[in-house]
Amino acid sequence: MTNYSFPDNFLWGGAIAANQAEGGYLEGGKGLTIVDLLPTGEKRREIMKGKVTSLHPLEGAYYPSHEAIDFYHRYKEDIALFAEMGFKALRVSIAWARIFPTGEEETPNEAGLQFYDDLFDELLKHGIEPVVTLAHFDVPVNLIEKYGSWRSRKLVPLFETYAKTVFTRYKEKVKYWMTFNEINMLLHLPFLGAGLVIEEEADRMQVQYQAAHHQLVASALAVKACHEIIPDAKIGCMLAAGMFYPYTCNPEDVFLAMEKDRESFFFIDVQSRGAYPAYAKRFFKDNRITITMEPEDEKILKEHTVDYIGFSYYSSRTTSTDPEVVKNATSGNVFGSVSNPYVSKSEWGWTIDPKGFRITANQLYDRYQKPLFVVENGLGAVDTVASEGEISDDYRIDYLRRHIAEMGEAIEDGVEIIGYTSWGPIDIVSASSGEMKKRYGYIYVDRDNEGKGTLQRIKKKSFYWYKTVIESNGEKL
Ligand code: BG6
Repeated sequence: MTNYSFPDNFLWGGAIAANQAEGGYLEGGKGLTIVDLLPTGEKRREIMKGKVTSLHPLEGAYYPSHEAIDFYHRYKEDIALFAEMGFKALRVSIAWARIFPTGEEETPNEAGLQFYDDLFDELLKHGIEPVVTLAHFDVPVNLIEKYGSWRSRKLVPLFETYAKTVFTRYKEKVKYWMTFNEINMLLHLPFLGAGLVIEEEADRMQVQYQAAHHQLVASALAVKACHEIIPDAKIGCMLAAGMFYPYTCNPEDVFLAMEKDRESFFFIDVQSRGAYPAYAKRFFKDNRITITMEPEDEKILKEHTVDYIGFSYYSSRTTSTDPEVVKNATSGNVFGSVSNPYVSKSEWGWTIDPKGFRITANQLYDRYQKPLFVVENGLGAVDTVASEGEISDDYRIDYLRRHIAEMGEAIEDGVEIIGYTSWGPIDIVSASSGEMKKRYGYIYVDRDNEGKGTLQRIKKKSFYWYKTVIESNGEKL
């Protein structure tokens, strides 16, 4: 028996993104997006940070997004497997460049629109609610070449047109939306997060926060359009969450942890409360950042706040002002964290901290008092296929079990959570490394880091475990 229970209509499911699952990168008239320029290996991290040498795929390099796991052609088979697990929701993203290949056509690309119509129909046929992100790491490349991506105000109306187009087209089918995936990623991986190519001599923070302002206004305009076009829909923001712990109770460490948290909250404070937070004024002044705004921006931000807070949680983070401790920082996740001696780490160095999940959920709910939607959580790990074809991923079950239990505790703490879509229910390409061997799925995909393999789908042990979790509405973990 558990201490907690999940609401009856809780949205259990999984989450994937177009760029990491679909493949078919030029099919159906799709244009190039930033992820199509990210190879695997060392180069990837450099490019994601904004050091871009070419805006075209290079000869001979391997680009995992080009075929990914071929969800573009195999989505029916995959959705049938999700349905077998009893999914109530699937989070997907729409690739902007399938709808507007260069981002600025007058008329949308019908083949792209039709693809998502078919995808949503397939989900609805199985009783699975589509939860749709408008932008998940995939700015059309043309907008980078022509305007420098989100550093330009030009992208605001272009994104608004894209958002209105898909709201109008899918208004009968999609009732849960999100604007920008992990909007705070713009500060850490500016090319991946926002298509920003940042020159050595540029004032990095100035570029990033001006781009952030454009995304925040575009997000508010999308919220406005969604409320007007689909009055019965809910639209949220999406934060890469995970609170910062101070390494010690030294007030210097505590203050730094607060500042680190604010780096991320900054975005959601605007999207959820409708205004730049008070602390932004000093932060901008100290860092000599000047945000150029249009006269109507403050009003737009004020009037069109999100309905719920979508967030991903993989890890907590720890910070210190002590140079000796900082030497010991992990490179495991892009947020840069010193090692926390009380928690373990994944094979990729990501902190494993289920209690941190409960703390983060409480922190977000206290701050925003809006429903939360956990739209990513999971363990990236290497899986081995035994000779009989079984995949005994007990480590994944253990990670998920402990996190779901803490989510239950958070609900018992009074936090309103509407759903849980674990990341990568089927193995997909890793965003940070481009690898296939960093797997999150309940379903194995036969494909390796070099793109070899049959793409066959195999159910892992966790497949049956998650099915039971959903069937029992979180009782049987
Ligand atoms: C989140 C992203 O940052 O984490 C996903 O929204 C990503 O796109 C996920 O895949 C896990 O990260 P990774 O690098 O292990 O794929």
